[in-house]
Amino acid sequence: MSDADAQKRAAGEAAAALVRAGMVVGLGTGSTAAWFVRALAALKLDIVGVPTSQATADLAASLGIRLGELGETKGIDLTVDGADEIGPGLSLIKGGGAALLREKLVWEASRSCVVIADAAKSVEALGKFPLPIEVVAFGHKTTANRICDALAECDLDIVPILRRKAGEPVRTDGGNLIYDAHCGRIEEPAALAAALKSVTGVVDHGLFLDLADRALIGTPDGVVELEP
Ligand code: A5P
Repeated sequence: MSDADAQKRAAGEAAAALVRAGMVVGLGTGSTAAWFVRALAALKLDIVGVPTSQATADLAASLGIRLGELGETKGIDLTVDGADEIGPGLSLIKGGGAALLREKLVWEASRSCVVIADAAKSVEALGKFPLPIEVVAFGHKTTANRICDALAECDLDIVPILRRKAGEPVRTDGGNLIYDAHCGRIEEPAALAAALKSVTGVVDHGLFLDLADRALIGTPDGVVELEP
């Protein structure tokens, strides 16, 4: 196992230790969240999991975790999920796995959110990781032009790139498309978040601001806990 994987695993296991029987638990998406789901399943607690993607639903179900749907459980006590970047105040970039919309829906419905990651995800400023922006497929090129204008308002003169896999546009679980904005450095994440949300056709973006209550970061010296 690589060092990064070992750190992701340690963070996932530390997060699983926060779960108690009877909880409704939001299950994140990605390789780090998968370690959490495996560790959680191994505890065999009586919990209900609310998955943030079909991939996570499939993994959790295969491990025997009982699943519920967002809005059909008694709220969500705790959500545990990975991130692509963790910046100041536990501001995050998420969506590298194209699950940002369902992730944000579950995060926002949760009483508590814990982000788990390997040490490489901690950054001094957000933006090196391309910011995912989910858009509806209808008229997406027009939407992309308007995203350019919104980025320019925030002093980011860049053109977002349509995400493809094997030459084909990537579709999210909801059937939408993803544009990635290579911002470099995001000086004002809140202003950028607001500008992007104001574009018709943008469903959501990967900036998760003021949502994480705690971070558990795997490091070579063990799991470090951070608060905003
Ligand atoms: C999924 O859309 C993302 O938000 C993931 O949580 C993020 O990309 C982190 O993934 P890894 O844990 O695989 O690095």
